[in-house]
Amino acid sequence: MSTSAAAPQVNLLVHQVSRPRGQPLPEHFHFVQEVLPSLAEGQALVENVHFSVDPYMRECMDGDWDLHAPLEGRTIGRVLQSSSDALRPGDWVFHRQGWRTHAQLKPDEVRVLTPAPGVPLTAWLSILGGTGLTAWVALTRIAKLQAGESLYISAAAGGVGSAAAQLAALLGAKRIVGSTSNAQKAEVLTQRLGYTDAFVYQPGQVSAQLRAIIPQGIDVFLDNVGGEQLEAAIASLKDYGRAALIGAVAQYSALQPPAAPYNLFDVVGKSLVLQGFLVRDYRHVQQELEAFLIPHIQAGKVRAEETITHGFDQIVTAFLSMLKGGNTGKAIVSVA
Ligand SMILES: NC(=O)c1ccc[n+]([C@@H]2O[C@H](COP(=O)([O-])OP(=O)(O)OC[C@H]3O[C@@H](n4cnc5c(N)ncnc54)[C@H](OP(=O)(O)O)[C@@H]3O)[C@@H](O)[C@H]2O)c1
Repeated sequence: MSTSAAAPQVNLLVHQVSRPRGQPLPEHFHFVQEVLPSLAEGQALVENVHFSVDPYMRECMDGDWDLHAPLEGRTIGRVLQSSSDALRPGDWVFHRQGWRTHAQLKPDEVRVLTPAPGVPLTAWLSILGGTGLTAWVALTRIAKLQAGESLYISAAAGGVGSAAAQLAALLGAKRIVGSTSNAQKAEVLTQRLGYTDAFVYQPGQVSAQLRAIIPQGIDVFLDNVGGEQLEAAIASLKDYGRAALIGAVAQYSALQPPAAPYNLFDVVGKSLVLQGFLVRDYRHVQQELEAFLIPHIQAGKVRAEETITHGFDQIVTAFLSMLKGGNTGKAIVSVA
């Protein structure tokens, strides 16, 4: 066994302990301690350093996650000890045993990361991770954005939204319109993230707001929110427009099914294409994303926009805050 640091005896984990109705609360989670078992043959002990908190986890809380059990989540950690030839102490690894301070993993459960100069390690959870890959797939495989086209992105200031706008700009988009919940974030959209236009969405007004900003209409829509945002985009899409349905964060904690969109039949009248997808079906595109994006990050042309909350004890708080729009860019928790 190779060792670079004293092995910790105790693991700190988060369990979900009850199911929410509506918005999740801190009381739906508990921090628990366990004594780490001895490392099995072929395993490595990993100290988790960066944790991703994501909207899909809210859906998991309704049933996919077992109560009083370890949770999953995308995480970057450092190998402390290893009894596998494939993993060495000091290696940085990406894996899915999040929501805990330490993980015991086999080589087939991790991806060893090769840090690149000028690229923060957290980027592999944000713009170079599943979040950025989602944006890249939405643009290049689903909506097939063409240079000179105009698009609208909902939840524009979030992880997917902040990656999507910067990627769309590199792909030659003409107008990139985004919406978010407050004026401070709207300013970030145009100042830092490559949006040409931004607005603060007002319930009941999104169609009118979008139409006022881009009366000539949009070619492409990336939907992170659903409901009224989708309705507004259907109204603004030009004939033969395309929408990539990425997520519906407005619905994950809703107690009622959404009233919008009321205008689905316009999909027929305008020959629109609305296509959903899951990023897990596009893992084979990861290398393409990295090859395209890393030089742009290193050149300072693209930023890994992130809201980093410090301290493992803040992971529940950071998750709940992200669901309420407390983040700009990817929501990450770091212990470093
Ligand atoms: N299809 C896939 O494989 C895939 C992969 C990754 C992510 N996703 C989906 O992509 C979407 C974005 O994910 P992300 O990780 O980038 O999260 P994110 O956008 O960083 O965070 C969620 C954001 O949603 C917005 N929001 C919350 N409640 C809302 C509401 N009622 N109406 C409008 N906006 C609301 C908030 O931004 P504001 O402050 O701007 O409202 C919040 O910051 C989610 O729907 C997620 O499930 C799908």
